[in-house]
Amino acid sequence: MTDVDVRRVTVLGAGNMGHGIAEVVAIAGYDVVMRDVNEELVSEGYESIEWSLEKLAEKDRLDESVETVLSRVDTAVELESAVSDADLVVEAAPERMELKKEIFGELDEHAPADAILASNTSSLSITEIASATSRPESVVGMHFFNPPVKMALVEVIYGSETAEETAEAANEFVESLGKTPIYVRKDVSGFVVNTVLGPYIGEPAWMVSDGEATVREADAAMVNRRGYPMGPFELSDLTGIDVGHHVREEAGRPIPPVMAEKVEAGDLGRKTGAGYYDYESGDGADYV
Ligand code: 3HC
Repeated sequence: MTDVDVRRVTVLGAGNMGHGIAEVVAIAGYDVVMRDVNEELVSEGYESIEWSLEKLAEKDRLDESVETVLSRVDTAVELESAVSDADLVVEAAPERMELKKEIFGELDEHAPADAILASNTSSLSITEIASATSRPESVVGMHFFNPPVKMALVEVIYGSETAEETAEAANEFVESLGKTPIYVRKDVSGFVVNTVLGPYIGEPAWMVSDGEATVREADAAMVNRRGYPMGPFELSDLTGIDVGHHVREEAGRPIPPVMAEKVEAGDLGRKTGAGYYDYESGDGADYV
């Protein structure tokens, strides 16, 4: 049972979300270990944290020096030693259930008995992930949004066996990061945010696939009419078109052809240099 005062945090994954979560945790004053499966991924993640902290410092949005925050970030490749004294582990691995279950099985073996085991999954079942452990009461969803350093919201999701203490501790931890948690009490695919975002991203993708609107028109409509910070296509490029594709697949929703084509071509958004927009040409998402 979890009754733990969080001090040491381990983030599993150094990709877009993993490095962003590790950064937020370090900014809040915690010691954090960021682990990924090889040195190259870990170094890329670490460099992304450095880049982001420098941006924040340039804009006077960091209370400490970049070096001080970075001094709280440790990196690792081996899972066992990375989690062996963690109070909280946040898993931010790719969105494949089998992989998540494998990781949580390893966590069950190597993380301290009273650790909170959290998953940053954007849509997979927390209940099923927790079933890979002998302590489902300590497993909880902790879903950050991209980019974590800028997005205030975090969903704290109950699996069917998550203990109230675990969810409350996760909630308190999120608040200590200066973020705004919301509880998602039912483990529904997509939770709250991605359930709402599904049509926001999916409907215009159908319109574009059917030749009823262009990418730029749809984005301009939402930004200029609704006051959203980004249109649906620019947002997909930020989060990764493959991520949205996967969320839809998991939910059993049909995939709009334009989305399938981008994924097939490997144009996944900003992370690959092109998606619905071309970021290498210097134009980027120039629709507003
Ligand atoms: N760290 C530091 N700086 C960053 C950064 C980061 N991670 N990412 C971008 N920046 C910088 C940019 O480089 C740019 O710098 P510049 O001014 O020197 O060129 C600057 O921040 C942009 O700042 P702006 O003031 O223009 O923009 P804002 O800060 O006001 O807004 C935003 C940026 C917060 C990303 C805003 O556009 C936004 O809210 N977009 C929507 C994001 C969103 O909805 N995310 C959720 C996606 S869904 C999700 O993640 C769920 C998942 O499960 C799929």
